[in-house]
Amino acid sequence: MLQALAITPTIGAEISGVDLTQALSQEAVAWISKQLLHYKVIFFRDQPIDTPQHLVFAKQFGELEVHPIQRKEGFPEVLVLHNDAERPPAGTAFWHSDVTWRPEPSLGSILIAKKVPEVGGDTLFANMEAAYADLDDITRVQVEGRRAIHAFEPLRQALIKRGASVEELAQYATDYPTVSHPIVRTHPVSGRKSIYVNGLFTLGIEGMSDTEAKPLLKKLFATADKPEHQCRFRWREHSIAFWDNRAAQHYATADYFPNERIMERVTVKGDRPF
Ligand code: SIN
Repeated sequence: MLQALAITPTIGAEISGVDLTQALSQEAVAWISKQLLHYKVIFFRDQPIDTPQHLVFAKQFGELEVHPIQRKEGFPEVLVLHNDAERPPAGTAFWHSDVTWRPEPSLGSILIAKKVPEVGGDTLFANMEAAYADLDDITRVQVEGRRAIHAFEPLRQALIKRGASVEELAQYATDYPTVSHPIVRTHPVSGRKSIYVNGLFTLGIEGMSDTEAKPLLKKLFATADKPEHQCRFRWREHSIAFWDNRAAQHYATADYFPNERIMERVTVKGDRPF
């Protein structure tokens, strides 16, 4: 029987009673969507699914995105996060919501652990609706109706490190110009408000000088830091996390170098934040 067991009062639940190597019934998909909406991130243990099964599972929740970099050969919708002694963990050790540099950032991400260190490499998740609810009145007024600027920049830096040519970088700049999103977004399904800026991709605030915007953003980024807004997931091989990028942020701890960690992520397309 499908069951959800909360792992904190604020965010995260472990789901049991499902075998993701098998096709799911419509009822099961609807039930999982409901848990995702409620818990913001849901976890599955001991699901030895292969890449085609990962894709089949994800496609039941919507159309899939193709990430511009680190794609798995033969599977353009799969992003590979592979770290070891030659590739130290770095890029995702910041609180963020995935691909907010897109005009329509992803609804959710489904990450599976292929190889994990004996210890370390946990992922933390923060409930950004709880973070919004906790915001002081002055800051709430300050951000009301404001839009923040999100950029592909950190990925551009990664591409530079990997030796991307000037032509390639120019193409990325054309394909992924900066975008703006409301600082406080409303969840399209639940109608709940959350803080939608993040320390990885958000660079500024429209109509504000950097001198004004930077301290405000710093304060907003820090709302994910509160332990009461968080849960922490310790990975095992074949564990899966499915999170709602519209309501949660995540942070992949970079504490396991030089050990190896291989993760594969598929992201479901989302809509324009409002
Ligand atoms: C990500 O930021 O999508 C990856 C998280 C992780 O590797 O734990």
